[in-house]
Amino acid sequence: MRSIIDILDLSTEELDELIATALDIIGHPRKYSHICDGLKLATLFFEPSTRTRMSFEAAMYELGGHVISMASAASSSAAKGESVADTVKVISCYADIIAIRHPKEGAALVAANNASIPVINGGDGGHCHPTQTLADLLTIYREKGRLDGLTIGVCGDLKFGRTVHSLINAMSRYEGTRFVLISPEELRVPDYVINEALVRKGVPYSETTDLDKAMPELDILYMTRIQRERFFNEEEYLRLKDSYILTADRMKNAGDDMIVMHPLPRVNEISVAVDDDPRACYFKQVLNGKYMRMALMLKLLAEAGKLESTGLNGSRTVTL
Ligand code: CP
Repeated sequence: MRSIIDILDLSTEELDELIATALDIIGHPRKYSHICDGLKLATLFFEPSTRTRMSFEAAMYELGGHVISMASAASSSAAKGESVADTVKVISCYADIIAIRHPKEGAALVAANNASIPVINGGDGGHCHPTQTLADLLTIYREKGRLDGLTIGVCGDLKFGRTVHSLINAMSRYEGTRFVLISPEELRVPDYVINEALVRKGVPYSETTDLDKAMPELDILYMTRIQRERFFNEEEYLRLKDSYILTADRMKNAGDDMIVMHPLPRVNEISVAVDDDPRACYFKQVLNGKYMRMALMLKLLAEAGKLESTGLNGSRTVTL
């Protein structure tokens, strides 16, 4: 049973296929509005979420399917000590596909290894967030018209930022990508991500603490939140939390076609005044995330043989 835990579980051809499907959904929503009639998504979120959970749920409704969910981890039998493995064995009896978020790295993989239906990782601790990256890829494609030859500045909490790790893994596969990694020394991208995604593949990158200096050379500035919930020490969080604040004044350092992205939620790392700048794309990412989650669920359900009557199947290839 195929599950998606890491963005690396999808080939570059499959990423292109998902983008093509999402674009088709955007162009022809009625074609897809009953494709999942009778199917159920279960959302298991052991950690807070607005976008990921609700976009998965909206995505399944827009495909004609249904959603079952636990109101919160605290109100589920996880509070009585039930393991993730047992939970997904149970949910496999009720649903056709699972989207899971968990504060522990590796929990989504445990879920996938124990479920008898496809599992999609909606974020596991500081590890991976593959469907945020799908949202990011569609946004980049729609805004820049391509996924190759881009210089991407990633700024903020690059140590704990699971969206950053997945984005680097995905974009490092495209020809001509260059990264500028902008963070405080304490929040640099972990060595294992740098080594696997950049050094091993020969992808050019630089590291800096200076956002203003980096901005003029960027095609994309990907801002991230300093994540209070990942810090072991509140004092350290308070010291680093305002390391980077993107203001309308700072945007004057950027090129006219540099886009600003952010996985959201934001705290104060992008001033609200930047929202009116046509280069701000973070609310577009939210909408694109729903379309990519629709495309991903269709792919996994088709591969699991649950969409046979629709004519979709797992081996379909679509070129951009
Ligand atoms: N981007 C993202 O994962 O948002 P949520 O935490 O609200 O799901």
